[in-house]
Amino acid sequence: MAKTFTIAQISDIHTGSSYFDENLMMSAIAEINQMQPDVLAVVGDLTSNGYKGEFEEAADWIAKFEIDNKIVIPGNHDARNVGYLHFRDIFGNPNRRHDFPMPDGRNLRVVTVDSGKPDINDGEVGRGAYPEISQNLKSDDGTFRVFVLHHHLISIPGTGRERNIVLDAGDVLALLRSLDVHLVLSGHKHVPYVWPLADMICIVSGTVTTWRIRGYTEPCYTLIQIDGDRLSVFERYPGRTKELAASYDLKHQQLMEKRQAIEEKLLRQL
Ligand SMILES: [Fe+2]
Ligand SMILES: [Fe+2]
Repeated sequence: MAKTFTIAQISDIHTGSSYFDENLMMSAIAEINQMQPDVLAVVGDLTSNGYKGEFEEAADWIAKFEIDNKIVIPGNHDARNVGYLHFRDIFGNPNRRHDFPMPDGRNLRVVTVDSGKPDINDGEVGRGAYPEISQNLKSDDGTFRVFVLHHHLISIPGTGRERNIVLDAGDVLALLRSLDVHLVLSGHKHVPYVWPLADMICIVSGTVTTWRIRGYTEPCYTLIQIDGDRLSVFERYPGRTKELAASYDLKHQQLMEKRQAIEEKLLRQL
């Protein structure tokens, strides 16, 4: 049995947008179905305006992923026009926890939150949510801990003027570090990036299916492989290539490998 636990992270599908490209979606579905990751995480912005028909279209696409374990959260676009009601009707409560067995015997726990607010693009977790997050992530049994929210907690380079970072980002980062969270998954900026914060790795995925992109970035999604203490992050361009973004030794808090080409591509945007 393979010892690697794999997460496919996709975000910013944006059904209903004139920039939505179903060829990108079909490529991503075929690739991820072939790969059979342990978890598919859909990290928000399923729709453009939160309309019911847009959610139904997103649900139809997500159903085509033949993956047993799917995690779906909403983004700021999904909270437009009271879209959070349709999200809950179709996908259920976005504030949840999930547990998955890892091949090395550990448990992997994912805690998700809805960081969106109706009709604004800003994101916030909110102090009221901290006790439940703490309760859900607290563990001393070697659990691998993952936190998922749509908005970014750290600024993403190459995206222009900073906007919509989680309003309580500092407090949330401190809370997550106090809980020994290993991994934070976000979307929103449509530019993929990985921020290692000592023993916590924050991964932002790009837009998987739209041409709502910034500068020279391209539609892509992210693959995360956890093999013991080694965590590797790949950027996958639907229908095209897969590139290693970075690889970390979590135990020794060390960067092991970095794909220079990806860094250079991003540096062109600064
Ligand atoms: Fe988006
Ligand atoms: Fe967003």
